[in-house]
Amino acid sequence: MRTPIVAGNWKMNPKTIMESSILASDILSKYDPNSTVECVLCPPSPALKVVADACMRSSIKIGAQNLHPERSGAYTGETPPEMIAEYCDYVIIGHSERRQLFLEDDKFISSKIHTALELGIVPIFCVGETLDQRESNLVNRTIDAQIKASLSSIPTNKIPQIVVAYEPIWAIGTGKAATPEIAQEVIGFIRECIKSLSNDFSASQIRILYGGSVNSANAQAIASQNDIDGALVGGASLNASDFSEIILAFSK
Ligand code: PGA
Repeated sequence: MRTPIVAGNWKMNPKTIMESSILASDILSKYDPNSTVECVLCPPSPALKVVADACMRSSIKIGAQNLHPERSGAYTGETPPEMIAEYCDYVIIGHSERRQLFLEDDKFISSKIHTALELGIVPIFCVGETLDQRESNLVNRTIDAQIKASLSSIPTNKIPQIVVAYEPIWAIGTGKAATPEIAQEVIGFIRECIKSLSNDFSASQIRILYGGSVNSANAQAIASQNDIDGALVGGASLNASDFSEIILAFSK
């Protein structure tokens, strides 16, 4: 039995530490302490501490939105991964915004996954195709290539610790979520890729989330799909009521 995860990717949306702190308290006040869903909040880095403090006495987990692969050194503007590890159990790696806007490639993403695992932080590794790739029938090829390029060098026994998020780029922030059937189809395929890269055990244990315009109205249908173990939520994670309804939808 895979424990479902609902992770809120706040991106750069809360503009102050105070806004992050208020959002965390709102989510906390609506979170059922007996929930069977692992809830992860991913605030902007400078707000990690206040959000972690707010959630300290709850089972809510904290995630970072990024991680530098090097442990220390001359990397102006970056956050040392060990500082991230002081607050975070999870980290989002390979999000399409980082791939597209910050030109992160598969190799760089792979080195971040290695660093996260070394520090005991669970990577939420994002993959997904563009609309062009979907319309050109290149979905499986794209996803398979992203998985192979970033996970081939990870030791087999570490694969089940990773969380994969399928986030079709055309669905992110557009209000046009993939249909539950499409999400299930690709996530089933991701499980097959993990099986061929690793083994049956890894494929049955690894948690795979769907992300891209998940909201309180579509969460239930997405959650009802066999292979979907949770959601990576952007916009709807900024509203405590919507976010808690999404958590509820995944409480199988
Ligand atoms: P969205 O973002 O829910 O706003 O589409 C998802 C994500 O980018 O992780």
